[in-house]
Amino acid sequence: MKLLSGLVSVAVAVSTVSAQVLTGATTCEPAGGYTLCQNLWGAKAGVGGQNSTLLSATGNTVSWMTNWTWANGPNSVKSYANVQSNSVQGVQLSALTSAPTTWSWEYLSQSDGIRADVSYDIWLGAAPTGAPASAASSYEIMIWLSGLGGIQPVGSQITTGTPIAGTTWNLWSGPNTNWHVYSFVATSQINNFNVDLKAFFDFLVANEGVASSQYIQAIQTGTEPFTGSAVLMISSYSVSAITGTQSSSSSSSSTTSSTSSTSKSTSSSSSSSSSSSKTTTITTTSTTSTSSASGATQTHWGQWYVSSLMRHTVN
Ligand SMILES: *[C@@H]1O[C@H](CO)[C@@H](O)[C@H](O)[C@H]1NC(C)=O
Ligand SMILES: *[C@@H]1O[C@H](CO)[C@@H](O)[C@H](O)[C@H]1NC(C)=O
Repeated sequence: MKLLSGLVSVAVAVSTVSAQVLTGATTCEPAGGYTLCQNLWGAKAGVGGQNSTLLSATGNTVSWMTNWTWANGPNSVKSYANVQSNSVQGVQLSALTSAPTTWSWEYLSQSDGIRADVSYDIWLGAAPTGAPASAASSYEIMIWLSGLGGIQPVGSQITTGTPIAGTTWNLWSGPNTNWHVYSFVATSQINNFNVDLKAFFDFLVANEGVASSQYIQAIQTGTEPFTGSAVLMISSYSVSAITGTQSSSSSSSSTTSSTSSTSKSTSSSSSSSSSSSKTTTITTTSTTSTSSASGATQTHWGQWYVSSLMRHTVN
């Protein structure tokens, strides 16, 4: 009997993240340290449908899938089903020590000739907070791990085969609404991505005049389908931001629990001597008097939204 009750409680724990399907055009749901949104913002440009399913959310890692079928409007994005980190927000580039991310994905099925990208969509602004694709947006930084069917990012291509974070990218640049778009397009598809996103920010600061005073307002990852049908499986995704001092005085090991961080980790105060480098930490953007130079302060904006105004033009 004891054994049985143990098994029951395990089953209950697992079922707390039961597969939950989003079918609405703008529906979202909590996904651990992330928010999963369907965001069928461009659906009117074609005909079809899409469903997105949260599969699991454990610690800072999330798994989800999306099934889509879209026709017509071959040059129009129909949607951006995505997960957005709830914690990596309000981080000033100049304060960023690293931004580790992992993303493993594959198409479980796809029709012939699909037109779609699989991409990060990262929003920067002059203020710590601001919704993606809003008046608060200064830059949209896309990182395309895949772009199929001849689709192109906003603007025009400005570099070819640029090496960043261990692979090569074609960089595209162009304006959109009130912000500027940079799109790093992988020169060949990447299904298992494991990098420090800081390398991309550093490139833009060094080469494109992006100010390091800019804040990361949001990091989203998902897919932009144009036409065709596919089942896209994201078996594992994570992103975190590490800020604060890189003081060498801390004796604690910074690598011990790299996979255990969660977005609900503990509060800000105290811990002036603890290493800031092993959790999903965000320095507070408030200019309050705290001034503890050594400890990174964790905050969680706890907000989420549907980014309904995203855009893409395709040549
Ligand atoms: C999405 O779910 C709805 C309702 O279950 C279903 O009718 C539709 O076929 C699904 N669409 C896709 C693309 O899977
Ligand atoms: C998505 O497609 C997979 C594979 O065909 C299927 O098992 C799953 O039920 C589909 N999900 C939805 C919500 O339609």
